Order: sequence, then structure tokens, then C-alpha cells
Amino acid sequence: MSWFSAFLGGGTASVEPATLADAQRLAQLHGASFHRGWGESEFESMLGETNTLVHRLRLGRKTVGFAVSRIGADEAEILSVAIDPRCRGQGLSRNLLLTHLGHLAGRGVRTIFLEVEENNRAALSLYKRAGFAVVGRRERYYLEPNGEQLNALLMRRDLS
Ligand SMILES: CC(C)(COP(=O)(O)OP(=O)(O)OC[C@H]1O[C@@H](n2cnc3c(N)ncnc32)[C@H](O)[C@@H]1OP(=O)(O)O)[C@@H](O)C(=O)NCCC(=O)NCCS
Repeated sequence: MSWFSAFLGGGTASVEPATLADAQRLAQLHGASFHRGWGESEFESMLGETNTLVHRLRLGRKTVGFAVSRIGADEAEILSVAIDPRCRGQGLSRNLLLTHLGHLAGRGVRTIFLEVEENNRAALSLYKRAGFAVVGRRERYYLEPNGEQLNALLMRRDLS
């Protein structure tokens, strides 16, 4: 799927299945977004698993984001979504996530779960607007590099 985004000045945005050749760039993007980044070899493993769905977001010829889910029977868990810090705040994540959800539906997934840090306002807005609802809370779930422990919200969306 692709859509016009000339206003961004970065070329046309498109969401496509990621391939093994993307592993290095995806690891770079993950490292720029999370304290404990996934390495290239972790992405290579995930890209080789049939139960793991990875999409890349491209702006022109540059990969600027990704979404990763793991599928089990008719349920899936979104493991990670990230956008290049230089490209955030432009509405790009919504199209990435909705396309990713469409592919999960196509794989027979009926219910999707995810965990998100409760103060991550951009991610919470993204997920709520995409139809996810908070169904639980996990106290002190994330450990920050400074030792701070942050809570996670568990979110769910049913696909019809
Ligand atoms: C979460 C993330 C993917 C959102 O990507 P993005 O392309 O910047 O987000 P968008 O521009 O599509 O905006 C999504 C929503 O967040 C809101 N938002 C964006 N940046 C925000 C900020 N800094 N503070 C509060 N809200 C923000 C937008 O207004 C939008 O909400 P709306 O549709 O209700 O208006 C991106 O910030 C990111 O990669 N963060 C680091 C990794 C991460 O936290 N991933 C999610 C947990 S797995």
C-alpha cells in the first residue's frame, strides 16, 4: 500500500513487508527508539520466522519506520513500532500501524494485544486512535537505565 505524502518533502510513503536485507536498518531504528535496542541478528531471526510479521515504512527509498508482531493461532502481539526520530509527529505511524493490522487480519488474527509504557503519549494516542483499548496495567514493568521503574498498560483490539 502507498499514499501520497509530497507535503513531507521526503518522497512517497509506503508500507511493505520487510526482508532480511532490512535487518541492519531496522536494528538502527530500534536502537534510536528504545534503551535496549534489538540487534541486527535479532531482526534477522525474526524476519526468518513464519509467525513473525515485520513491515517497513519507506519514505521514498529510505526506511524510516517499522512494525513487528508475533502471531499465535488467532491472536497476535505487537512487539514493537518505531519511527525514525527525525520523521516523528507527521502522522506516519498511523498508516504503518493500520497497514500492519490489515495484514494481521489477512493472516486470520482476531485479537491483538500490546504493552505500552503508560506515559508514552504518542504511542497511546496512536494505539487508541487505531481502536485499541486499555485492558490491564502492569506495575513497574519497565526498568529505565537510571533505575526508574515504569508501569505498562496492556491494550487490546479485536479485529472483525
Ligand atoms: C510512537 C511513535 C511510533 C509515533 O510515531 P509518529 O509518527 O511520531 O506519530 P504520529 O505523528 O503518527 O502521531 C500519533 C499520535 O501521537 C500524537 N503525538 C505525536 N507525538 C506526540 C508527542 N510528542 N506527545 C504527545 N502526543 C504525540 C499525535 O498527535 C497523534 O495523535 P492523534 O492522532 O490523536 O493526533 C513514535 O513516537 C516512536 O517511534 N516512538 C519511540 C518508539 C515507541 O515508543 N514505540 C511505541 C511503543 S512499542
